[in-house]
Amino acid sequence: MNKANILVASNRGPVSFSQADDGSLSLRRGGGGLVSGLSAAAAGAGTVWVCAALSEADRLAVREAPGGRLDEAGHDTGGIAVHMIDVPEDTFHRAYNTVANSVLWFVHHLLFDTPNAPAFDAAFRADWAAYRDYNGAFADALVAESADGARVFVQDYHLTLTPRMLRDRRPDLRIAHFSHTPWAPPEYYRLLPADIGREVLTGILGADEVGFLTERWADAFLDCCAAFLDAEIDHRTRSVSFGGRVVRVGVYGLGVDGPAMQERAAAEDVAERREALRAQVGDRRLIVRVDRTELSKNIVRGLAAYREFLTDHPEWHGRVVHLAFAYPSRHDLPEYRAYTEAVRRTAEEINAEFGTEGWVPLILQVKDDYPRSLAAYQLADVLVVNPIRDGMNLVAKEGPVLSQGGCALVLSTEAGAAGELGDDALLVNPYDVSETARALHAALEQSDDERKQRTARLADAATMLPPQRWFAAQAERLG
Ligand code: G6P
Repeated sequence: MNKANILVASNRGPVSFSQADDGSLSLRRGGGGLVSGLSAAAAGAGTVWVCAALSEADRLAVREAPGGRLDEAGHDTGGIAVHMIDVPEDTFHRAYNTVANSVLWFVHHLLFDTPNAPAFDAAFRADWAAYRDYNGAFADALVAESADGARVFVQDYHLTLTPRMLRDRRPDLRIAHFSHTPWAPPEYYRLLPADIGREVLTGILGADEVGFLTERWADAFLDCCAAFLDAEIDHRTRSVSFGGRVVRVGVYGLGVDGPAMQERAAAEDVAERREALRAQVGDRRLIVRVDRTELSKNIVRGLAAYREFLTDHPEWHGRVVHLAFAYPSRHDLPEYRAYTEAVRRTAEEINAEFGTEGWVPLILQVKDDYPRSLAAYQLADVLVVNPIRDGMNLVAKEGPVLSQGGCALVLSTEAGAAGELGDDALLVNPYDVSETARALHAALEQSDDERKQRTARLADAATMLPPQRWFAAQAERLG
């Protein structure tokens, strides 16, 4: 096996499998901001992408692939060499669902106030041990695949311990870690058990370069290093001196690839869905949102804002439709299932309260349908992105790029994207339902000219650092 000079490691890889009733496996491209960004950057660059088997179908596929290499087993992985790791199911479940998604994701998105917030008990310690094993399995695969002096790009909160493990075993490697999430401020981060909080920070500091999507998250990371480690922080140069080494912290605001998105959106399946949507909503104005069914996306408050807008503005009844598209996500976790139900209930209530024979005010679709989302972006008059906290949020960037007639962006101040798009968006406090309702109204009342001009500027800002350049900038910095 040829060793690689560039490697990427992430929990979710660029492809996943599903199994039909007859036992046959079919491959599909993965989703989410991390995967869409990295897929474009890694394709064709001689990169090996190390990822985890996420399902039983993935595990079956890996077992038929020598050394875990899906591309070598004849799968079409889109020009990327993919090494999928067959982590034991129980280890994977503890590492992914319990530690990564219920604790680390929760802490960075300030979600510990939900009814199912974690309890750090003896069972959790066993989960933490599994998280270590899972990070270790990634380190093993990366060690096996890396050429001397290779550059390794480790991604996100699933893999915070891998950089340190790699450095201990392979000091020749140049290692980067990138967080696609926000980072918690020290007063929230300290809610983690102290030793685990420190293990995560020292794990990440095993890298040479640590990357974030915005200055705000990078500064919070530096503040945590200062508060919880015996480390020296320089906010001006964004660096951490720790354990005799200096680690640099960088900010890379991932954007979207405009031409690639336009090309994808020009395909027949998008045109079909666009026609179907037009037929469904007629010439009514369209408010659109597209999210994973994710607690931090704040879908329920967003729908409540639409309800308040309809209450306050009867003159808009019958003249507007809200399309809410949600991609099912993390449904192994009970709080995510309950949240999806709360979203459905709110949508039903709104339609029961305001709907008439000829008008359905809200169309909610909980389904994985990418071309339908692209069609909705093309038609949207208003795009709502109101997360309570979000690393970046690429929906806010994709919408303006594909808009055909101009779309007004209602955007949370707590999305990383607000830093780059704030000047031309209608910024809202995500907890302030009434302010969001007023923003929906203001967005609908924007003149055509203003909306189009703002959309053009939003699209420019959204495409400033497309995935290839985002990745190249980090690779250059790593040397
Ligand atoms: C966020 C995370 C990614 C993750 C994606 C989808 O964007 O930063 O690491 O892949 O959500 O979540 P999932 O749990 O389905 O991979």
